[in-house]
Amino acid sequence: MKSYNYNRKIFLTTIASATTGGVLFNAALPVSSVQAQTLSLFSGQPENDYLFSDGLTYLNTGTLGPCRKDTIDETLKVWKELESLPVKFYGKFGAESLAEKTRGIAARFLGCDMSEMLITNSTTSGMNAIAQGLRLKSGDRILTTDQEHGGGILCWNYFAKYYGVIVDKIQIPPGENSAELILKRIKETLRKETKLISVSHVLSSTGLRMPIAEISALARANGALCIVDGAQSAGAIQVNVKELGCDAYATSGHKWLMGPKGTGLLYLSKNAQESIRPIQFEESYNTYNDGNGVVNLAGILGLGKAIEYLESVGMDKIEEHNITLRNRLYGQLKNISNEKILSPLEQSLTSPLLTLLLPERFEKTSFVKSLFEKYKLSIRPAHKEFGFNGIRFSCHIFNTEKEIDFASEVIHKELA
Ligand SMILES: Cc1ncc(COP(=O)(O)O)c(C=O)c1O
Repeated sequence: MKSYNYNRKIFLTTIASATTGGVLFNAALPVSSVQAQTLSLFSGQPENDYLFSDGLTYLNTGTLGPCRKDTIDETLKVWKELESLPVKFYGKFGAESLAEKTRGIAARFLGCDMSEMLITNSTTSGMNAIAQGLRLKSGDRILTTDQEHGGGILCWNYFAKYYGVIVDKIQIPPGENSAELILKRIKETLRKETKLISVSHVLSSTGLRMPIAEISALARANGALCIVDGAQSAGAIQVNVKELGCDAYATSGHKWLMGPKGTGLLYLSKNAQESIRPIQFEESYNTYNDGNGVVNLAGILGLGKAIEYLESVGMDKIEEHNITLRNRLYGQLKNISNEKILSPLEQSLTSPLLTLLLPERFEKTSFVKSLFEKYKLSIRPAHKEFGFNGIRFSCHIFNTEKEIDFASEVIHKELA
């Protein structure tokens, strides 16, 4: 496998030429030159490693991550081989054993045993599998937050609608900056009927990193399970499911892990496997089994390749890089008058996501669309369920300080 060096020297040289004494440059650079002058932190030239179109500034991994070219090559290689004889990998010694390679890589990456790791299609499908496998009944309670993404909450709403399960939501106001307050609200809301706490590791709305280890401990002390929606954390920050102490953790392959679209991972701890029994894995935890049906083998093997790349760089370095960029953006956006950064300042609560509240005269979706049309800057408007007029930036391994400076300059200019 190709190995990549963390080339600090190139990185620092790049920063030095990208900034002018820490002051933002006033005139907008021609957009196409921004990407061209950008060096990727870990691999030298992003255009060698990714398929980004010319001039694109991609700060949108929280929505969907890019696949690296080597991931795409691996995926296509498997797919082409499969199509040379469609039944080639069919059955026990084909797909079943091949897909297991990715299960092993994923387990190592998230810090659990392979017997606790399952391959899914997405975070949503993982969360649905957990909910379906729990056999909840009328009167059981679920504790969650008012900031969950649809992919992590629809499953509980379903059980509330059809099975009489009660969903209790604690509030996490945009701008929340205290883990203590979050834990206090959870403690006050827990009841003896609470069967599980289900929260995002990193909130999709504001990027707040939840204190999962403490929440897991609260759940355990209450005899409840702790279920984590990890869509915005695996690949973005270091994740070790054993250190988090959670019982289940669902994540997406196609966001921060930079795997093929339509892939996902689900961790079910040994302990939780007794109480969570999804239909598709009732018979076997193998990816390809009678309960799960045919799977996207090429994508799954591509996901393994993508995770191996992150491992080769090191999640400690990736997290540091991502948070450094996020903090730089925070520093540059915080001075915009009348606007507000909704993401935490407290470092233990930060993640590579940053959300900015827009002034009322701008509507988030059309604002984001116009940024793309004018500057080829890709970010995301906050989901409407979160109820605020915000825009979200995602900082990942391939992003650079120069791109952050460019995005910030664009925002300053548009909001002036
Ligand atoms: C917190 C959270 N959960 C779940 C999802 C859904 O992910 P997927 O499309 O992989 O199911 C997202 C997507 O943005 C998310 O941010």
